[in-house]
Amino acid sequence: MTTHPIGELNPPHRLMLTPGPSSMDPRVYRALATPLVGHIDPWFRGCMDDVQVLLRQIFQTENRVTMPLSASGSGGIEASVVNTLEEGDEAIIAVNGTFSDRMAVIADHTPAKVTKVEAPYGKAVDADDVRRAGKGKKIKIVGLAHGETSSGVVTDIDTFRKVADELGALLIVDTVASLAAVPLHVDRQRIDICFSGTQKAISAPPGMSPITVSPKAEEVFRNRKTKVQSWYFDLTTAMNYWGKDRLYHHTPPISLIFALREAMRIVIEEGLENRWDRHRTNQLALVAGLEAMGLELLVKNPADRLPTVTAVVIPSGIDDVKVRDQLLDEFNIEIAGGLGPLKGRIWRVGLMGHCSQKPYVLLFLAALEKTLLDQGFRVPSGVGVGAAIQSYTHANTAAAMSR
Ligand SMILES: Cc1ncc(COP(=O)(O)O)c(C=O)c1O
Repeated sequence: MTTHPIGELNPPHRLMLTPGPSSMDPRVYRALATPLVGHIDPWFRGCMDDVQVLLRQIFQTENRVTMPLSASGSGGIEASVVNTLEEGDEAIIAVNGTFSDRMAVIADHTPAKVTKVEAPYGKAVDADDVRRAGKGKKIKIVGLAHGETSSGVVTDIDTFRKVADELGALLIVDTVASLAAVPLHVDRQRIDICFSGTQKAISAPPGMSPITVSPKAEEVFRNRKTKVQSWYFDLTTAMNYWGKDRLYHHTPPISLIFALREAMRIVIEEGLENRWDRHRTNQLALVAGLEAMGLELLVKNPADRLPTVTAVVIPSGIDDVKVRDQLLDEFNIEIAGGLGPLKGRIWRVGLMGHCSQKPYVLLFLAALEKTLLDQGFRVPSGVGVGAAIQSYTHANTAAAMSR
């Protein structure tokens, strides 16, 4: 066995313009470092109440079953499908990228029959295709990703709600990449199960998956004929802890809950609508800058672009990894590459939560220009930053006129 002294932990300070995790506000770090208390301490019960109040505000719901699961976003997918699906059920999942596909993959671990209705990566699934796939069948759930992080596409939830109503199905929506950044009203849009992740637009550490369940979905849980195949993700027993009795279920990640509470306080202080506007304005400026630099976006239709993740087509002859490495080494900026079939074809630039800020957009465009020039891609000097500044000026004028 080789042994060498292990030094003190000292990670670099990165600007994480990735599709998650995002950089965090210093207030969230401070919350993370506060003293631990026990998970059944009476004080902690009050803290859990606070977390549920804040979550309901962010999801825009009155749902009783609203809690952060002790799991990453994938745990939210798992909980949603295993609690609803059992032997004899049929599910339709709208798949337009890696994460919506993950919902289909996880649903396939249940005994239910799963149909994928697909769209090419870079586009939203057509709700009419789901309608056709479900016609004449008894469909238990329709599932989709509101924000498909692998391709940077946002899907209009309302058209899918309409189709799910026609099919008599529950609607399950993955908002891991969109909650607290893109308009969402769980109650008004009648989403039956909606889940997210803490590490993206909420800008808390990774490791929790906020989830909310409608009374109708709760009733479906109560009427199950078989046990939920997962003990850990059985939402009815998990709610014994997050419900009024606060009965032990498992030991939750207490420090992460502290950090989530603080991150959500920041969301509510800013106001959801302001936050939605901020994400849209910063992405428009980023897109203006990228296009002015001669770069192409994967998502052609501006209305389909997810405000938190912008997918940029890698110009031919330019090395994906060399560009990302230079951004990291020279500027301390992390962006992501493509996943699955998009590996080597796109870069993904995240502007989520704390990272969706004008100074970061301008810094990134300047850093990208320098990096692309070094890698042999010709960019007229300063065009990206110039176009972004113009986009901000338009946004300010439009906001002033609407006041
Ligand atoms: C839309 C979406 N769903 C689910 C997940 C899975 O979340 P996690 O990696 O936290 O398990 C991700 C992660 O990026 C995501 O973007």
